[in-house]
Amino acid sequence: MMSRFDLHGRKAVVTGGAQGIGAGIVRGLAEAGATVTIVDRQSDKARALAEASGPGLVVVTADIGSAEGCRQAISQARDAMGGLDILVNNAAPARNREMIGRIADVDWADHESIVLHAAAAIAESALDDLVASGHGAIVNVSSILATSIGADQSSLAYHVSKAGLNQFTRWLAVRCGASGVRVNAVAPGLVDRDVGHKLTANPVNKKIVDSVVPLRRAGTARDIADAVIFLASDAAAYVTGQVLTIDGGLGINEVFGASLRAYTAAGER
Ligand SMILES: NC(=O)c1ccc[n+]([C@@H]2O[C@H](COP(=O)([O-])OP(=O)(O)OC[C@H]3O[C@@H](n4cnc5c(N)ncnc54)[C@H](O)[C@@H]3O)[C@@H](O)[C@H]2O)c1
Repeated sequence: MMSRFDLHGRKAVVTGGAQGIGAGIVRGLAEAGATVTIVDRQSDKARALAEASGPGLVVVTADIGSAEGCRQAISQARDAMGGLDILVNNAAPARNREMIGRIADVDWADHESIVLHAAAAIAESALDDLVASGHGAIVNVSSILATSIGADQSSLAYHVSKAGLNQFTRWLAVRCGASGVRVNAVAPGLVDRDVGHKLTANPVNKKIVDSVVPLRRAGTARDIADAVIFLASDAAAYVTGQVLTIDGGLGINEVFGASLRAYTAAGER
């Protein structure tokens, strides 16, 4: 009997799938049996990933910063795969370190257009196919920073847009429930990226992660991908409108005790 986690025969789109968490989700869905389309504006990276991950991967080079870009991306993905069962809204603007900790409006537009407008425009373009699929599923990639504040780690626009994405997830789940399309989100915690700034490359960060995260490590793209596979599969057939936190237990740690452990581990006592 086929496992209810199995995705053979399913057709998936992952936005921002060329690198990082998105690339991990692309690999995970492909391993679970799905045909996957990577939608990303980084065409060379997306192609390299598709070639390295074997057959069944399609690349659509698109900028999803406009409604038209979103429509075209979904239309090309549908044509290439012959339908659509799974949509993963993962793309987000690159972190603008200059804006971290500042109250200003310069990066609202980017976050609004990629995290909110694109997720909505892509979902709308994909909806008829997801309904026709009979087991359509949308998974949005949010963050623990939708519900808690990391003032030294991300911009105000990041926090607010991810909070909006959580509420969009619930709204769309109610809107689409009767047509059989499920809508959920994953909220990653501290994830070590495979490109650019790696959180635990800094020894103090590493000590903090090792002392504060109950599972004693940063997350990986694969950790996030496994949760996406679950939410996209029939194993989650009765799950909709939920935000699944994937943070190694970070969010449940009592704040005073966690801070004390971090300071002690970092030798600050
Ligand atoms: N890395 C973390 O620690 C972390 C933690 C919590 C949540 N998240 C969330 O996970 C998701 C992925 O994060 P990441 O760190 O892997 O990101 P990343 O910056 O490494 O990758 C984002 C991808 O999206 C693509 N992209 C961005 N704008 C685009 C556009 N307009 N059109 C097409 N493609 C576009 C980029 O080309 C890139 O390939 C994001 O939604 C992020 O907010 C990340």
